[in-house]
Amino acid sequence: MIRPADRFADVELSLIRQINALATPLSTNLGIGEPNLEPDATLREFARRASAASWHYSANAGAPALRRSICRGTRYDPAAECCVTAGTQEGLFAIFQAFVNPGDEVLVPNPGFVSYAIVAGICGATPVPYDLEPPSWSVDVSRIPFTPKTRLIVLNSPSNPLGAVLPGATLQAIARAAEERGVLVVSDEIYREIWYESPPPSLSGSGPNVIVVNGLSKSHGMTGLRLGWILAHADVLKPVVTAHQYIATCASVFSQSLAEMIFDATEWNASWLDGVRQQFRIQRDAALYSIEHELEVKIDAPAAAFYAFAPVPSCDTLAFARALATDAAVLVIPGSAFGSNGEGFIRISFAASVEQIATGIERIGRWLRANGK
Ligand SMILES: Cc1ncc(COP(=O)(O)O)c(C=O)c1O
Repeated sequence: MIRPADRFADVELSLIRQINALATPLSTNLGIGEPNLEPDATLREFARRASAASWHYSANAGAPALRRSICRGTRYDPAAECCVTAGTQEGLFAIFQAFVNPGDEVLVPNPGFVSYAIVAGICGATPVPYDLEPPSWSVDVSRIPFTPKTRLIVLNSPSNPLGAVLPGATLQAIARAAEERGVLVVSDEIYREIWYESPPPSLSGSGPNVIVVNGLSKSHGMTGLRLGWILAHADVLKPVVTAHQYIATCASVFSQSLAEMIFDATEWNASWLDGVRQQFRIQRDAALYSIEHELEVKIDAPAAAFYAFAPVPSCDTLAFARALATDAAVLVIPGSAFGSNGEGFIRISFAASVEQIATGIERIGRWLRANGK
């Protein structure tokens, strides 16, 4: 029998995939992690033009013109401090490959995006959760369990699965605490453009130990086009570009050309992003209304992203989410998929039409009432 490498022995498909696998044609899917956005005529025209541009490799770190566009208005040098990647996920993988050794500890948010802990494990490191505390999902910097083995801490604000935003002062305090200990900070800012009241603070341009990752998957509904980027001081970025070379060579040149056109069309892009925020605000408010009236709980309105993290009367949210999928034809992600602090919650994605949101949450409410919860 041919066995996978030891580093993959315990890696399974994420609970998110497992729940999504229970979907039937009748299911209402509120488990999705991708925006319900379709390209408009301008984006389609950009894509048509991108298909006529180069089909050859770009520089490993990405086409210089695109890197210049990404760095515009930042303190990063496009030639040495920006690397374009095949999505944020590849960026994260390249960073971990470049910096994380077996035996290291990697601090990951709890609850938080599943990939961080898995990729740390693949590198032979131990993922160590740090707490985000309800109801506002704040971080007490003095309680982050840094140890001499800590190599890297991942921040994700705005957060998947919480939709919560950390204050700028907290982000800066974490970055400083890490710097004092010689720890790298990876700030995953992929949901930063999807906000409801004010733009979320960023760690872009912070100290030499800070790496920022971002991409177009969520802001432009381009999940399948795999376009992300990394910003970091030149010394830090160098080994990451080397790792990226051996993982992906370069990001898709089609997606890079498209991204360049998006960034260059500043007026169109600003109005696209406004439209995205408007659409998600309507969907968020629909979700909040249904959560309050059907699930009879009031949660803080998510400040960003397209997730509501709602408490449910269940001591095993995985069993609960499975029951909802099979008995109530609605898919949501059990909070426990995101770490122990997620137990007792479900992640409801409102990247769906208002009708689907209303139907899905109504089905959850009906199931709860029918089961005496
Ligand atoms: C927090 C977070 N980071 C990174 C990613 C990966 O995004 P990409 O499509 O850019 O690889 C996701 C996707 O769900 C995410 O939620």
